[in-house]
Amino acid sequence: MRDEHAQQTPAKQLELISEALQTELSRFSNVQARARAKTLLSEAQKQLQELKDVRTKFLGKKSGVASLKKLIGRLPSEERAAFGQKIQQKEDEFVQAFDKEEALRKSFIETARIESESLDVTIPGRRPRPGHLHPITLMRQRIEDIFVSLGYAVEDDREIETDFYNFDALNIPEGHPARDQQDTFYTTDGFALRSQTSTVQIHAMQRRGAPVRMIAPGRVFRRDTPDPTHNPMFYQVEGLCVDRGITMAHLKGTLAEFVHRLFGPETRTRFRPSYFPFTEPSAEVDYSCFNCGGPGCRICKWSGWIELGGSGMVHPNVLRAANVDPEQFTGFAFGLGIDRTCARIYELDDIRLLFENDVRFLEQFR
Ligand code: FA5
Repeated sequence: MRDEHAQQTPAKQLELISEALQTELSRFSNVQARARAKTLLSEAQKQLQELKDVRTKFLGKKSGVASLKKLIGRLPSEERAAFGQKIQQKEDEFVQAFDKEEALRKSFIETARIESESLDVTIPGRRPRPGHLHPITLMRQRIEDIFVSLGYAVEDDREIETDFYNFDALNIPEGHPARDQQDTFYTTDGFALRSQTSTVQIHAMQRRGAPVRMIAPGRVFRRDTPDPTHNPMFYQVEGLCVDRGITMAHLKGTLAEFVHRLFGPETRTRFRPSYFPFTEPSAEVDYSCFNCGGPGCRICKWSGWIELGGSGMVHPNVLRAANVDPEQFTGFAFGLGIDRTCARIYELDDIRLLFENDVRFLEQFR
């Protein structure tokens, strides 16, 4: 700039510098509008830096203004004061112009920063939707509470079993017809998904020895076609009590107490002779309908009785398979279907509803 204007008078040079500054600053003039958009925050920061560079160019030690100031001393004495004043006035104008442009950007940057960091405390919060327990879990907990209060431990065991635990140890040898009835799902390497919680009888006796008193709620699997009372995956709770001198009377007394606590003290039990390979004798257990109490209604399908599950005295072969001496110990066992009991209590016509995961249905059990 200095070379370009070197031939001009100092006053003209000052005028040219002033014009050059105006042109330079006009480049920034629309930044305010542009920078109002949020995305232009970084542009405002960039321009603030650029403005500093331009300020140095026009007002720094090597600027045209600085050179002109040095000229003052060499001017004829009558011009010196006027030019000195003029140059000072221009310099003040330049400083003001820069200060103004810089202040604009600084305030924009500050506002944008506050806006981006601020929190609108008036926005309504998002209400959390609290979950709740599944009806089968609620049912399982009710059953557990009753047996725990009767002195039973709660066992949790594996769902994938070997043939030994699922069949052999339960007195169901290879070729036994009971293997067909309870045909389950097998893995490719010969493991079976347990078809009944009775497998836990063996694990519990092997682990704890005798005497033992436990219940084992859990999932079981059968190749049953789904219908209103069957699912291929459902829940049972096993019960086992082994000690010296345990008789069928203990079994009847225990299950009678259980239904009293679950359905009310007026509930009666009924034992029907049955067959299970792992109990001898065996019995199906029914309880009097909690709704009608006997005469018959829709819930008990007009029979007055509802099936609870299977039961019996533990077969000596089962005790032996679990290393318990049948000469010293006897015991009873039972297996109840949790899903069907749950369906009865909540008056569901179809146990499949429990597994459809329809929130509108499940929310009723909140
Ligand atoms: C047994 O599974 C025996 N392990 C019970 C037992 C244990 C007997 C200990 C003696 C000693 P059962 O196959 O009857 O028995 O099944 C017991 C209960 O499971 C039934 O009463 C029924 O409530 C339920 N159940 C059986 N199959 C299904 C199914 N496909 N879907 C839903 N519930 C079922």
